[in-house]
Amino acid sequence: MRTTITRAKKIRGEVQLPGDKSISHRLALLGAVAEGKTIINNFATSQDCQSTLSCLRLLGIPIEITHETGVSIGGKGLEGLTASKEALDAGNSGSTIRMLSGILSGQSFVTRISGDDSLCRRPMKRIITPLTQMGAKIHAREANFPPLSIEGGPLQAIQYTLPVASAQVKSAILLAGLFAEGETELIEPCATRNHTELALKEFGGEVNVHANVISLKGRQRIHGIHTEVPGDISSAAFFIVAATLLSHSEIILQGVGLNPGRRTIVDLLQKMGASIETLEQWHRAGEPVGDLRIRSAALKGGKISGEQIPQVIDEIPILAVLATQTHEGLEIRDAEELRIKESDRIKSLVENLRALGATVEEFKDGMFVAGRQSLQGSLINSYGDHRIAMAFAIAGLLAQGETVIEGSECAAVSFPNFFEMLSQLTVW
Ligand code: S3P
Repeated sequence: MRTTITRAKKIRGEVQLPGDKSISHRLALLGAVAEGKTIINNFATSQDCQSTLSCLRLLGIPIEITHETGVSIGGKGLEGLTASKEALDAGNSGSTIRMLSGILSGQSFVTRISGDDSLCRRPMKRIITPLTQMGAKIHAREANFPPLSIEGGPLQAIQYTLPVASAQVKSAILLAGLFAEGETELIEPCATRNHTELALKEFGGEVNVHANVISLKGRQRIHGIHTEVPGDISSAAFFIVAATLLSHSEIILQGVGLNPGRRTIVDLLQKMGASIETLEQWHRAGEPVGDLRIRSAALKGGKISGEQIPQVIDEIPILAVLATQTHEGLEIRDAEELRIKESDRIKSLVENLRALGATVEEFKDGMFVAGRQSLQGSLINSYGDHRIAMAFAIAGLLAQGETVIEGSECAAVSFPNFFEMLSQLTVW
């Protein structure tokens, strides 16, 4: 599908974002292995989270959609999953395949799990290595790529230093750790999103975190909960940037998740000069949540690198678009992980920014996007990557003429009503 976007005057209005994708995956996975029913409101509408639910259904977990965004999960405890007759399909979702593999490693049966073409090109060795050390037997194409065949069994806790800063890998090991004998201990090279740790506590589990060391006792029983998912800050980022860059804009985003490991996009933009106010703050699912008011502002630009990168990894596509409108431009470094996301995001960003007439320098681990550029509408290749499609839709609001997003339907992977909400907020 192609979507055409034209230059906008401003955005204004008040919206509530769909539930956070990362948190929804974790609540569903933990709900499945908890004892008793879990009820989740504002569950993410994203296709990725629907993939997690369909995999869990095939593993014998009763799941009901109670209303538009309400999900009820009949938890079966640590020993309750049953073998699936067919292969599980994780679709486009790295979180589903990696985190679920942690749970599948602790089962007494074999599971095959695969996904779409993009997922089948993403590396799995990062989970295969630790899960194999714990006792699972995992076969993968070229020992690295899906489809995976996971022969679970009795697991032993491990002490493991993560070679890459990845919340998906950390979570896969913690979930396997729930099934293991002994205490699993993980050392992170730098902080990544801690939704699994927080969710485990919500379900009554015990997780200890001391600086960058996380430990979890195995064979803990966890219990079903009634909870609500905060709005997705990574989805909010597209509107935060649009409101900041289009003059005379003012929007209110209700109930946005403000987890310290995810709100870095807000902190970073504020440091560059953005006007983002937190109007009210509360807690949901053990996570901080707030209403944000964003008004247009001029931005300085700068550099993001090192330990900041895992904190804004999903926001880099929209940050690269934003960079074109800053005073000094933006340098992004230490972000080679972008090359193995839903697309090679460094390549997708550089090519599409250049198509809009922007000056960009590509590095192995990032890019430099020059500031104060005027963009010229063009044909954008989404590369089937949801965050590329949405980031360039925002670029289209800033560009002269028409911007056409090829493959725009992929936005549904994380944000099915993105284009609807965008037209609701935009004044053309
Ligand atoms: C996620 C972690 C990040 C992120 C992904 C969601 C999560 O991936 O890019 O969109 O929910 O844990 P990595 O763990 O590969 O960094």
